Amino acid sequence: MPHSDEASSLATRVKKLTQEDHRSAESASFITELMNGDLSTREYAMLVSQYHFIYQALDAAVEHFRDNSLLPQVVQLFDPKLDRRTAILEDLQTLLPESGLHPAPVELTSTATYAQRIRDVADDPARLAAHHYLRYLGDLSGGLAIARLMQRHYRVHDHQLNMYTFKSISKPKLYKDSYREKLNNLNLTPEQQDAFVDEAARGFRYNKAIFEELGTFCKRLTPVAV
Ligand code: HEM
Repeated sequence: MPHSDEASSLATRVKKLTQEDHRSAESASFITELMNGDLSTREYAMLVSQYHFIYQALDAAVEHFRDNSLLPQVVQLFDPKLDRRTAILEDLQTLLPESGLHPAPVELTSTATYAQRIRDVADDPARLAAHHYLRYLGDLSGGLAIARLMQRHYRVHDHQLNMYTFKSISKPKLYKDSYREKLNNLNLTPEQQDAFVDEAARGFRYNKAIFEELGTFCKRLTPVAV
């Protein structure tokens, strides 16, 4: 069956064709420094602040799409269990004040651009699905390792890591496998599949731009007293 043929499946194609963009985003110096323990909780709080704006756009678009879908099978991907909006607000409630930041999250220009892109493609099932795939499969993959590192390096507490805690998903690996299976069975046209891959590649670049801007922005903040 062509749709589940491993080598030509959409899940395999998107992963392969965006491999370089993924590598480039994850090796941004802001991220490598954050992961190595060279920064502080404040930089992590700034990163989660950007997620606040990204997921406000993504989860709202997905919610709207779920109710008004022209392509019902895409809705199978849009599982309400994934919604991150409340989890992020819970994390920010203590992360921001404890790291000396204003209690209202600051949105960087690159984040506003990314969030606007998500809103702009909200009526296009293939492109919206690409942003969904990118964020959620990413959070269910590297995200879990990020949470462990934030705990180890900066003593970020469990109650500040809800962003990466998917309470209703006990086995992320199985969930991701099933997500990829659904993706492969969406019956997207060849044009929609190309749009999906193109949008995923763009999505990585939007994320990389945010890491770069965070690097510059955070360097300008007053140093944290140690
Ligand atoms: C912050 C640094 C990052 C690290 C350390 C990281 C790490 C990882 C790791 C270890 C995997 C699992 C690979 C596998 O199972 O073969 C993964 C998968 C993934 N990551 Fe990242 N990642 C990072 C950033 C990102 C970003 C910025 C995005 C996009 C928003 C992203 C999106 C994805 C996606 C979509 C997958 C699933 C690929 C698939 O199985 O189809 N990652 N990442």
